Amino acid sequence: MDLRHYVRDIPDYPKKGITFYDITPILMDPEAFQYAVDQLAEKYKESGATKIVAADARGFIFGAPLALKMGISFVPIRKPGKLPYKNRCVTYDLEYGSDTLCMHVDAIGQDDKVLLIDDLLATGGTAEGMVKLVKEAGGIIVGAGFIIQLGFLDGDKVMKAAGVDHDFLLEIN
Ligand code: PRP
Ligand code: MG
Repeated sequence: MDLRHYVRDIPDYPKKGITFYDITPILMDPEAFQYAVDQLAEKYKESGATKIVAADARGFIFGAPLALKMGISFVPIRKPGKLPYKNRCVTYDLEYGSDTLCMHVDAIGQDDKVLLIDDLLATGGTAEGMVKLVKEAGGIIVGAGFIIQLGFLDGDKVMKAAGVDHDFLLEIN
């Protein structure tokens, strides 16, 4: 199956000059959606991961079914003000400005083996924030899986600089 057929390009969204890669066609097709989850499960079956950590919001769509399929825990990383218990937060730089991500303080324990999941690796800012949060909590990152990597942005470099082995199902250049 070629997942590229299930990613819709929306030019000039959310701003002029930016193309949005819309993954909702994957979700509309149970075979494509199942395929994406199965491919990630296959990649990480020997990873030893005990927890999946996924990013609000699109990371949840793929991370939750993957956690169930792998029989491991699911941990949401959320935008500020959404998690009700005590939060651990990290602020990271964007091209213009900054952003914050939070996790419950008891979600990751010392030496938990964590697989990071998100739909898209673009500049790597979100993934880098996830890496910081998990490491601060004492977790060990065994991998980071994405549905799409945008090859013309720096996500790949950012992951390498962070020392995280990452993988993806589809690269768009
Ligand atoms: C998108 C996407 C990734 C992130 C990738 O999330 O789902 O999480 O951007 O970009 P980056 O590598 O440059 O950080 P977004 O923040 O748009 O929000 P959403 O998941 O809630 O739709
Ligand atoms: Mg996101």
